[in-house]
Amino acid sequence: MKKAVAQAAVDQIDNGMVLGLGSGSTAALMIEALGQKINSGEIKDVLGIPTSFQGEVLAGDLGIPLTSLSAVSQIDLAIDGADEVDPSFQLIKGGGACHVQEKLVAAISKKFLVVVDSSKVVEKLNLDFKLPVEVLPVAWKQVRKSLEDMGGISELRMAQRKAGPVVTDQGNLILDVIFKNGIDLPKALESQINNIPGVLENGLFVNLADEVLVGEINDGIASVNSLKRV
Ligand code: 5RP
Repeated sequence: MKKAVAQAAVDQIDNGMVLGLGSGSTAALMIEALGQKINSGEIKDVLGIPTSFQGEVLAGDLGIPLTSLSAVSQIDLAIDGADEVDPSFQLIKGGGACHVQEKLVAAISKKFLVVVDSSKVVEKLNLDFKLPVEVLPVAWKQVRKSLEDMGGISELRMAQRKAGPVVTDQGNLILDVIFKNGIDLPKALESQINNIPGVLENGLFVNLADEVLVGEINDGIASVNSLKRV
């Protein structure tokens, strides 16, 4: 499913585009497919802007020409995965702790294309997947208390194969927060959380996604369904 959506996303890339390169396993497959098309000469003159250390290393290894956010004022097409997508195209992202740069890239993209498998499509956000919030290390307990006052129970994301917490590409920590009844008003909550002192950014992506490609498997055959925001 992930390969099928990654391929379908790369099919939307035209020569000469400035591209936002997302993070996570689905975005990595997309970057690999893009690298193949650049190396075969099928796609020319594109410039990629990675949203994470992961994407920067992968794209660099594949020979994809890169630039940086500070060098552009607009991106033609950003392609990225998501952890949850609701019926209004609102997203939770940040499962890979990369949502700060991912949101910066999505915010200046003419088109933000989201690539997910069907397990990511939900009726309501945050009933299952916890909302990632990037916080300054010195502020994590204070932010946890503020989130609690808003009805959110959060935990510090711990690293695998390293003692202690996950440290983001910006050198910060991640609180993963769950609200008991899910998220009713994503736009309001996004602002409310970002107003807490010590919060850098949260993983609610509101009114950013233009199209969502959903990979499905039916009778053992992978297919891609395109959902467009109306
Ligand atoms: C990283 C992200 C990813 O796009 C999201 O976690 C989806 O990842 P995957 O494609 O591996 O399921 O937001 O911060």
